[in-house]
Amino acid sequence: MAGDTEAFKELNAEQRNKNIILVGMMATGKSTVGAILAEELGYELVDLDHVIIETEGRSIAEIFAEDGEEYFRSVETAVLKRMLESENKLISTGGGAVLAPGNTALMLSKGHVIALTATEEEIIARVSGDQNRPLLAGNAVERVRRIMEDRHNAYLFAHYTVDTTGLTAAEVSQNILMHYRG
Ligand code: S3P
Repeated sequence: MAGDTEAFKELNAEQRNKNIILVGMMATGKSTVGAILAEELGYELVDLDHVIIETEGRSIAEIFAEDGEEYFRSVETAVLKRMLESENKLISTGGGAVLAPGNTALMLSKGHVIALTATEEEIIARVSGDQNRPLLAGNAVERVRRIMEDRHNAYLFAHYTVDTTGLTAAEVSQNILMHYRG
């Protein structure tokens, strides 16, 4: 069982009882890094977008197209709350999960919040050709620029921030593990 690994034992009691929550713009590597960290720490991996898809029985693009962003945000907030009712989870959130009022305070109170960032150029390169992000439909470059502008302060609340530009997911994970283990 991964929870018995040396890495897990190294954590102090306070950290052991907490969730780790990854926030950040789309394409900053939250899902990939989250999977590596969950494995290393023996935490349950929760990808918020995946839980939303399962709960709704349809894709994120379908939810946006059929019921709009506001509805998506309400489901996202409800799922976040439900996931944070218990502990020892590694939760990777969608880029907009920090937007609804109350979500950031909830995250800070229920977990250790880690923000992943990247430069605009890097994000544009990473999302090019991606059909699965409804907010980027149309002119993806323009949309990324606009969203980054709109959200320029949105991830500053995190306990810790890693700039992932030019780093592999393994390198980002190592950085976070070093920080987390103190
Ligand atoms: C969104 C990011 C997406 C997904 C949805 C909205 C956003 O998740 O939740 O398309 O508002 O930034 P990723 O950050 O995993 O791409």
